[in-house]
Amino acid sequence: MHELYLEKPGDLKMRESRPVPAPKDNEVKVKVIYGGICGSDLSILRGKIPHAVYPCRPGHEILGTVVEAGEKSRYSVGTKVASFPNTYCGKCEFCLQGRTNICMNKKVFGLTVDGLFAQEIIIDSEFLVPLPPDLADEKAILVEPFAVNVHALQRTPILRGKSVAVIGCGTEGLLATVLLNHRGADLTVLDVNPLKMEKAQSLNKNIKAMHPADAKGKEYDVVVEAAGVKASIEQAFQLVKPGGAMIALGVASGEISYPSLRITRNEITIYGTIIYTKKDFADALTFLQDPTFNVAPILSRIDPFTKYREAFADALTGNFAKIVLDFR
Ligand SMILES: NC(=O)c1ccc[n+]([C@@H]2O[C@H](COP(=O)([O-])OP(=O)(O)OC[C@H]3O[C@@H](n4cnc5c(N)ncnc54)[C@H](O)[C@@H]3O)[C@@H](O)[C@H]2O)c1
Ligand SMILES: [Zn+2]
Ligand SMILES: [Zn+2]
Repeated sequence: MHELYLEKPGDLKMRESRPVPAPKDNEVKVKVIYGGICGSDLSILRGKIPHAVYPCRPGHEILGTVVEAGEKSRYSVGTKVASFPNTYCGKCEFCLQGRTNICMNKKVFGLTVDGLFAQEIIIDSEFLVPLPPDLADEKAILVEPFAVNVHALQRTPILRGKSVAVIGCGTEGLLATVLLNHRGADLTVLDVNPLKMEKAQSLNKNIKAMHPADAKGKEYDVVVEAAGVKASIEQAFQLVKPGGAMIALGVASGEISYPSLRITRNEITIYGTIIYTKKDFADALTFLQDPTFNVAPILSRIDPFTKYREAFADALTGNFAKIVLDFR
């Protein structure tokens, strides 16, 4: 059995795993099928996240099959499952309100504790979600990044007929585009990379696409910021109509200037949004089971995990949507 391993920033390797013990109590042993490479895995690889712990096994977006189950486990052998990207305590003020996504004691797989990019893992079954048996693995591997958008877009009311701009057409922005399109929004997407704009337009020919520089002076009812850089966040504030809303999904480090007068005088609402709860995950699965809900273009390719170097190098170019590793 093998796993990926990050000794220090920039130093990603494959190695033989230590023998995986038998699962105890709530734990299960999962044979990993697919692992999706996420933007945050790339940031950890680049050493861009100050609180990342090294050495560390990377990865948090996996699906696999339970092959052994502890006596108190939620799932039995043979269940197909997907992982949560972090743990939560279940006891803090926020967990008790059902907001496990903002748990005060959460630990993030592949960032502050060992991640999930291995052929076999042991994990607390609390942080797994069962997958419908009829859902193709190639769709199911998108459930984690998609649940982010299901959660984010629940923050705003009815979107049908509203003008919505999505800034950034990475995996998150593209999945937002699919969901907004499904909900009948009048959609414009912005990206600095023409390949990404093309990808977004391939989802529906009615989607307008433009370079961010061409959006100057335009205004939208809702702006979804999914690029996560200073320039895009500052532009997002400028693109919201009076009375409108910005969904702050992208994560940027460093300082961003906040246009106080514009936000206050125009009653602009800013919704922070971070991952999701189990309910969002379940809703995401329901969408993915709908055959008319077309997420196929968002899966760029699947590589055997032994080709991790090529897969991560291509992901780092920024020219692809989701690249997935096959751990079988
Ligand atoms: N809030 C959450 O729960 C959550 C979850 C997952 C990811 N994220 C964050 O969301 C953001 C997007 O994630 P992703 O995985 O899609 O990343 P990604 O890197 O795949 O996509 C970002 C896209 O933004 C584009 N871009 C860069 N600069 C731009 C600019 N100035 N204007 C317009 N587009 C620009 C890039 O070309 C790219 O297509 C990241 O900041 C990530 O950390 C947040
Ligand atoms: Zn992720
Ligand atoms: Zn908690």
